Amino acid sequence: MKIAILGTGMVGDALGTRLVQLGHEVTMGSRTAANEKAVRWAKPLGQTARTATFRDAAAFAEIVISCTSGTHSMEALQMVGAEPLRGKILIDVSNPLQQEKDGGMILAFCNTDSLGEQIQKAFPWTRVIKALNTVNCEIMIEPSRVPGDHNLFICGNDAAAKKEVIKYLAQWFGWKPDNIIDLGDITAARGTEMMMPLWMRLFQGVIGHPHFNYHIVRGN
Ligand SMILES: NC(=O)c1ccc[n+]([C@@H]2O[C@H](COP(=O)([O-])OP(=O)(O)OC[C@H]3O[C@@H](n4cnc5c(N)ncnc54)[C@H](OP(=O)(O)O)[C@@H]3O)[C@@H](O)[C@H]2O)c1
Repeated sequence: MKIAILGTGMVGDALGTRLVQLGHEVTMGSRTAANEKAVRWAKPLGQTARTATFRDAAAFAEIVISCTSGTHSMEALQMVGAEPLRGKILIDVSNPLQQEKDGGMILAFCNTDSLGEQIQKAFPWTRVIKALNTVNCEIMIEPSRVPGDHNLFICGNDAAAKKEVIKYLAQWFGWKPDNIIDLGDITAARGTEMMMPLWMRLFQGVIGHPHFNYHIVRGN
């Protein structure tokens, strides 16, 4: 497949590398076509790893993965514009986290809003699916790093797109479809984004590394 990775951070690097290794044609998008990090990412991967502007990367792709700094994701997507995203699945991996003066992380908006919803509202003809945002990028691409069953959350307004994304997450990264919980429409992104303060506390204050995940256990 032709896949756009919008974002040159550790998430873009991890997802992009795995997708190229699987044989996909991946373009890493950035504010500038020859972004230093993107060029460094593409170099060892060969001809199926390319770099471009956010807009050109999305235009080239069949499916788009948005993994930019969450407080700037809307800016990045406005640089793309509506046309290159029309009718396509966009997997939104980002969280709208911002750093406070004391170094702590807070959500820039939450509760009655979410980044997933903002993207869907701004791009009504794009099939926005929120997924992967509640796990570290090394777990995204290799869930077996965490032993046993554990869950991923997915939401979005387009049921067929969600099914397709569940299939990709299984094929690309090895997520068991039974462990992917469909939370419903895109407003559920409020909840998955609001899991981040808990995730950060577990990471920094309890577990001390990012290789963990949530497991939902059902009673009768
Ligand atoms: N790290 C993880 O394991 C993890 C796990 C789950 C979710 N997430 C979420 O995934 C997203 C990506 O995280 P990351 O650490 O890989 O990268 P990041 O450092 O949060 O974001 C880097 C990207 O944001 C873009 N960006 C920054 N400021 C911008 C602006 N003013 N306008 C447009 N674009 C701008 C950068 O563009 P340029 O390329 O042009 O510099 C770059 O592509 C975040 O939202 C994060 O919360 C991360």
